[in-house]
Amino acid sequence: MKTIIKIASGFLLTHILTGCATDQLHAVLAYLPTPSAAVGDSVHGESIFREGAGNAPPCISCHQITTGGFTFGIGPNLADIAQVATARVTGMDAAAYIHQSIVDPGAYLVPGFRNIMYPHFAQDLSVQEIEDLVAFLMAPGGE
Ligand code: HEC
Repeated sequence: MKTIIKIASGFLLTHILTGCATDQLHAVLAYLPTPSAAVGDSVHGESIFREGAGNAPPCISCHQITTGGFTFGIGPNLADIAQVATARVTGMDAAAYIHQSIVDPGAYLVPGFRNIMYPHFAQDLSVQEIEDLVAFLMAPGGE
């Protein structure tokens, strides 16, 4: 299923791009938001967060997303990640930082934590699923 989506979106993009002259191509590329063009669905993002998808383990197995109470977790509590992420890496906005944290967890290590986050989300999740997770974590309060 994921492969079908990837092939379909790849085909669509190629199809759109081959129809464009170079300057139009640049206009299209400039218009695309970074890090990807997919628009996240936070409701689907929450379901991936809680239940995983395909081979990808649920994020909740390591991350809590509620504030207050007993908040031990293998990874940092992500209740305030939309806010926290704005200040993690200079020059990287919150969405870009969260995206990087999912696809390349070792790129920035949260102080006090080791590099033990599941490293294969970039392969196990589709571009759309990653955007859905980012949209979910960008929602105020995490949930
Ligand atoms: C096996 C445990 C584990 C799983 C599963 C896991 N994480 Fe993590 N995550 C960690 C650890 C440990 C860190 C802190 C070390 C680091 O920065 O990589 C972290 C860091 C993060 C950060 C940065 C937090 C901050 O305060 O800057 C984000 C965002 C994040 N994870 C999102 C996710 C999402 C989304 C998923 C599910 C797709 C997920 N993680 C799955 C363990 C995990």
